[in-house]
Amino acid sequence: MAAGYAERVGRAAARVAHHDPVHIADFELERYFARWEFAVEHLLCASDVEGYPMADVLALADDEMHERWAGLRLGYTESAGEPLLRHEIASLYTTIEPDEVLVFAGAEEGIFCLMTTLLGADDHAVVTWPGYQSLYDVARANGAEVTLHELREVDGWAIDLDVLRRQVRPSTKVIVVNAPHNPTGMLPDRATWDGLVALAEESGAYLFADEVYRFLEADPTDRLPAGADVTTRGISLGVMSKSFALAGLRIGWVASHDRALLEQAVRMKDYTTICSSAPSEVLSTIALRARDRVIARSRAIVDANLVVLDRLFADRPDVLRWVRPRAGSVGFPRLLGDVPIDRFAADLVEAAGVLLLPGSRFGHPGNHFRIGFGRVDLPLAVARLEGYLDRVGAASGGATT
Ligand SMILES: Cc1ncc(COP(=O)(O)O)c(C=O)c1O
Repeated sequence: MAAGYAERVGRAAARVAHHDPVHIADFELERYFARWEFAVEHLLCASDVEGYPMADVLALADDEMHERWAGLRLGYTESAGEPLLRHEIASLYTTIEPDEVLVFAGAEEGIFCLMTTLLGADDHAVVTWPGYQSLYDVARANGAEVTLHELREVDGWAIDLDVLRRQVRPSTKVIVVNAPHNPTGMLPDRATWDGLVALAEESGAYLFADEVYRFLEADPTDRLPAGADVTTRGISLGVMSKSFALAGLRIGWVASHDRALLEQAVRMKDYTTICSSAPSEVLSTIALRARDRVIARSRAIVDANLVVLDRLFADRPDVLRWVRPRAGSVGFPRLLGDVPIDRFAADLVEAAGVLLLPGSRFGHPGNHFRIGFGRVDLPLAVARLEGYLDRVGAASGGATT
């Protein structure tokens, strides 16, 4: 006779009780930000673009969206995302339909749900590194084996397609590429991108393209076609936080032609947020409808800051060196000299109230640090950094203690 409901629930509970608790590594970058983000005067390592004031976002609204905002009822919304928002997101792509978009609470929830859906114990993933930790540690937490595809400063942080080809195996379920890249600002050239797409198609792996810095290319003609547009194996990850300067909305998305995969991923969301924030969905729709103005504002902030940083690196070649980012709002310079970057960053924040993010937070052994250039206080932060360098002796590479 079939087991009764209580018996079945009991068995399921017993299975859960014997299951190892999910172990996921501490998110090093987030722990560092938890300590410092709201305690320092200048965040010279933030990856987002200066957040919009609320009033300025509402001023972007067309008549329809003004009405939506005024009449918004704060109930649950559709789990896959509010239809108007999915429509606007789909229009960022050339081939994606609204029902090929899933809305999430930031890109972070999208990574969590997709990786958890895609990967299990027998699977393998290749992931660009150094990089955003959840792109590889959620995979590991799901039991998958991860091969890191190391980007190296000597190569201008470029992806090495030959190496990547050798890293892919029959069990490779997904190739994860973050481009434009955090923390290096790397953007593959078109030939490399096409090669990656071809590799995913030949191997049958998914290409998970973390494109959260897309639309922030220094030269817009370098913009790559989105992963989801160029292959049915492509999964594009986007977010309002970076190019669209609205991190506080916590709205991100995944786009893909693989509807079966999306159908599975949305079930994962039932266990995380169920649906996204209703006000944030409306505000995101407003910003995406005004995307040209929003992106122009972000680009103007980043461009002005790059002028300041170009001068900083030109003036101090004995202390600081970088591969100039081709896109995005972060770069990964190196502190020259003998002072370890962790000590330098710790002294700098105490002495000057300026926060850098040491490469160690990415598990990177070099003397690199992430610098962020999306915030409007960057000229002040750089002036403080320079004052500090002058005080401690530039030639020693900084800190003296
Ligand atoms: C490459 C990359 N992917 C995903 C995210 C997550 O974006 P969000 O914090 O808006 O969810 C970030 C944030 O820094 C990132 O740099």
